[in-house]
Amino acid sequence: MDYALYYFSGTGNTKLISTEIMKVIEVKRKQEMKVSNLELISIENLEECSIRNLKSTVVGIGFPVHKFTFPRNFQVLFRYLKKLRNSQLSSSNKRIPAFIFCTYTRFPANSLENMNKELKKIGFDPIFSQAFKCPSNGIASMKDPSSYEYQSVMYFEHHIDKKISNFVQELEEKIQEYKISPFSIKNSRNPIESLKLTIVESIEHTKYPFLQIDDSCVLCGACVKACPEHNLVKEEKEIRIIDPVDCLHCLRCMHHCPQKSISFGELTTGSKRYTPNVIRKLYKDSVNGIGSAYEKDFQSIVKQWRKDTLAYWKEHREKQWWKNTRKRMKSRNFK
Ligand SMILES: Cc1cc2nc3c(=O)[nH]c(=O)nc-3n(C[C@H](O)[C@H](O)[C@H](O)COP(=O)(O)O)c2cc1C
Repeated sequence: MDYALYYFSGTGNTKLISTEIMKVIEVKRKQEMKVSNLELISIENLEECSIRNLKSTVVGIGFPVHKFTFPRNFQVLFRYLKKLRNSQLSSSNKRIPAFIFCTYTRFPANSLENMNKELKKIGFDPIFSQAFKCPSNGIASMKDPSSYEYQSVMYFEHHIDKKISNFVQELEEKIQEYKISPFSIKNSRNPIESLKLTIVESIEHTKYPFLQIDDSCVLCGACVKACPEHNLVKEEKEIRIIDPVDCLHCLRCMHHCPQKSISFGELTTGSKRYTPNVIRKLYKDSVNGIGSAYEKDFQSIVKQWRKDTLAYWKEHREKQWWKNTRKRMKSRNFK
């Protein structure tokens, strides 16, 4: 069986977990002396993917939770997979097993279920899914590491390496079950999902408004290279944001800017950046079992965060937000 793991990672957490999952699969394959093709593909480089035979492939999807769901650039992957599947499998009944995981900071919400639904629509059978708690790539990465806010969220869950090994073990069991009798994860229907996502979008936008580039910018172009959506262009006197509304808010440009000229509103102004070195250190801490002392209080931290977030939103939300929310819901046409 081949594996193709497609992922998107704004700032590095999902890339790291994807790489570790693939490493575990590779080691197992070697131990079992099985030959298979393992591909790890960023959805930003789909054209480089060489998976040729979907019939003998398990497809994996890894994503960071964005605003309670998967980032909207996954639409590109859905179109790609649908085309690939239709070009290879003549029978429309033939389905392909898929596994899903997300990385999140405080609240994965229904993101895994939402991804399941989308994959089912394009002819895949989600057979296994899991969420991995990771550090925040947002506000907390700007905070002083000795502060409560930093320490209470900036950690990978305890012994994440073991969780990844168990994930692969369980996945392989599901694949065996699937071979004997195909199945897919059942989703419960949630009619208020569309409303919830739209409200969350408004809350997130209040907290993290459109990206801003201040006067300290030296036009080095690091943000232009980093943007996964090609939404920034370098011009003679400025970095132009092609479409501020359409920004993915993944925060990659902000963390790549050497001048720290980029922010997403007042909650992200600070001197710390979420770099690969920080990520590796936090991952190592988790593997070595010296993760956060706050892990046991996680639920109460999330509760407090919800309260604080709602209070911030009430104070700062846009006027007429309900009217605008209805407009946004209509335009997004949630199903
Ligand atoms: C725009 C945006 C929205 C986010 N929304 C959520 C959320 O709803 N729930 C959550 O637990 N984490 C949320 N996060 C945190 C990320 O999911 C988390 O840090 C993730 O591991 C980042 O992965 P990456 O480094 O691969 O981009 C959000 C981050 C961003 C940038």
